[in-house]
Amino acid sequence: MTTSSSERGVGLGMPQLPAPDYPDDVRARLEADAREIIGRYPDSRSALLPMLHLVQSEEGHVTRTGMRFCADMLELTTAEVAAVATFYTMYRRRPSGDYQVGVCTNTLCAVMGGDAIFAALQEHLGVGNDETTPDGKVTLEHIECNAACDFAPVVMVNWEFFDNQTPESAKRLVDDLRAGRRVDPTRGAPLCTFKETARMLAGFPDERDGAVDATGGAGPASLVGLRLAKGDTAAARVVHPRDGGPQDEPRDAAPHEPSPAEHLSSHDAPQETSASDPDHPSPASESDGPVDEEGQ
Ligand code: FES
Repeated sequence: MTTSSSERGVGLGMPQLPAPDYPDDVRARLEADAREIIGRYPDSRSALLPMLHLVQSEEGHVTRTGMRFCADMLELTTAEVAAVATFYTMYRRRPSGDYQVGVCTNTLCAVMGGDAIFAALQEHLGVGNDETTPDGKVTLEHIECNAACDFAPVVMVNWEFFDNQTPESAKRLVDDLRAGRRVDPTRGAPLCTFKETARMLAGFPDERDGAVDATGGAGPASLVGLRLAKGDTAAARVVHPRDGGPQDEPRDAAPHEPSPAEHLSSHDAPQETSASDPDHPSPASESDGPVDEEGQ
């Protein structure tokens, strides 16, 4: 006996019914927020990206209802809204966890241990890429370079940085998130939930005490070049590619005093990454000393 395509749950290519609307109280609240967002732009359609973050802050992902709401408010078609919502990876299309744990597996992080971290978290959490733990706490995903290569390998939780991670430190991090224990990013504002983060990305202020001040500045690894330029740190080699190659330019060394912004999170692996995770040593740890530009 054969079963019909409808019995097997296979779509027939028919148009979907219109997305349901939000409950009246939710719609009224979102309309007030949407009007505030739209008022920031000379052309209302320019408000689409923050509007998508707004609807994501309501439901944790961009639903058909959210896209229809954006289209109504901005006088766009739902197709136009869907085209944008499906282009950018910061908009989630499926229900997700309170904490989006993104492991950078782009080139530099991958070779520094990002691939090992991702594999360890998959096994530890029992979920694959873009999947959520059964308790609804953690969604695991690959992320592309987040411009934090100087702190590789990097893990992000709801877009906050956790630098210099190892498989073991990353597993402790997700365990703490799932247990509701306090987790502090290496840099930036205190952690909040994915929905709260989405509301900030829609352009609404972070109202938590001290959150804005805590965003701090660049971390120590990012400031090395600046300190070199100021002569604060001894430089072994300075490369002048147009002047015939590397030249040695010794400078007076001055010890660097870390600023308060250069703290480490309790969830950071030590800077000597492999020391906390002997199963995944970094290449540098296997040599007897510092490695120069030629790897000697
Ligand atoms: S490669 Fe990971 S932050 Fe750039």
